[in-house]
Amino acid sequence: MDNLRSQYNGRTVLITGGMGFIGSNLARCLVDWDVEVIVVDALLPEQGGNPFNLDGIADRIKFVRADIGCDYVANHLVGGVDIIFNLAGHMSHLDSLLYPRRDLELNCATQLTLLEACRSYNPHVKIVFTSTRQVYGRPELLPVSEAHRVAPLDINGINKLAAEHYHLLYHKLYGTRAVCLRLTNTYGPRQLLAHQRQGFIGWFVRHALTGEVIELYGEGKQRRDINYVDDVVEALLLAGGSEKSDGEIFNLGGTEPVSLSDIATELIRLTGSGSVRHVPFPREQQLIEIGNCYLSSEKIETMLGWRPRTTWYDGLARTVEFYRRHLPRYLEPHFDPVPRSTAAAS
Ligand SMILES: NC(=O)c1ccc[n+]([C@@H]2O[C@H](COP(=O)([O-])OP(=O)(O)OC[C@H]3O[C@@H](n4cnc5c(N)ncnc54)[C@H](O)[C@@H]3O)[C@@H](O)[C@H]2O)c1
Repeated sequence: MDNLRSQYNGRTVLITGGMGFIGSNLARCLVDWDVEVIVVDALLPEQGGNPFNLDGIADRIKFVRADIGCDYVANHLVGGVDIIFNLAGHMSHLDSLLYPRRDLELNCATQLTLLEACRSYNPHVKIVFTSTRQVYGRPELLPVSEAHRVAPLDINGINKLAAEHYHLLYHKLYGTRAVCLRLTNTYGPRQLLAHQRQGFIGWFVRHALTGEVIELYGEGKQRRDINYVDDVVEALLLAGGSEKSDGEIFNLGGTEPVSLSDIATELIRLTGSGSVRHVPFPREQQLIEIGNCYLSSEKIETMLGWRPRTTWYDGLARTVEFYRRHLPRYLEPHFDPVPRSTAAAS
């Protein structure tokens, strides 16, 4: 990490969605490195934005509560920054089917607004975009490489794929230094636990810690790769700090694939509470179920030297340890009081 840190010396970084789960973990790392960090977050309802995520570093960043999909906000913020970690987005696959236009707004229109702002005010900025493995749909071949055909099963996957293309098009046409990372299930400290529409791991963690029943759809034998958030932060930093990543798409695969059932069992063991019940797949979930899915990280390992380092059982243990201390902060979705901007970016 020391070598990586030196690439961020003297840089100014903008994190969109930086009060959310992954963005706040990234912000914490950059603040530790004394990087100048600007966080913009709209604290959208039902998403992972939570002021507690920036607890302890709030006075060392510039926080702007605003929608990066507003052109005047984006135009104002992108000038003068060296790297944008573009994490603001909507990630619920189920919600995208219920509210497709909302997903379009957040995952496509917002991204275009940001890219247009870059074109006008900072055309050669580096921009790291977080996409999703959901763009592949049901895998035909495992592990899934970047060459696998894309066939999203839900609106969110389609819109994330379009957003990747916007980023890569701006790279080709205008020289914006964009890179897209396709994330698998990411978990760890500071993830929303209030509902299950942002991923199953947080939901399982919550139920194990509160001694409730974890419902497994079907037999729970689907195998997935999962990534501890610190590993994902390292990948973001490597992609953001390297010229080799410009114009590329990278999968972020996890360590060994693990079944949902094994994750639930391990969480019950770690917490000493909770239980499992097998239930039939709800119809809307069945429609977008991708079965066994795990990604190959060979490309990013070869080009940037990244691979996941945290085993799923170590990562779950660290996650449980965090929520044992802070569970009440994550049980409800965040609502106001509105955190004020600590400064406007100049
Ligand atoms: N967590 C995962 O497992 C996972 C998997 C695949 C992809 N991703 C992608 O990674 C990114 C970050 O995910 P996360 O888990 O940290 O989500 P999160 O919900 O915890 O954080 C997203 C943040 O973005 C903010 N936001 C959304 N739209 C905004 C806008 N227009 N302007 C300003 N702020 C806005 C929200 O308020 C929220 O705080 C997302 O784009 C998501 O699609 C995450």
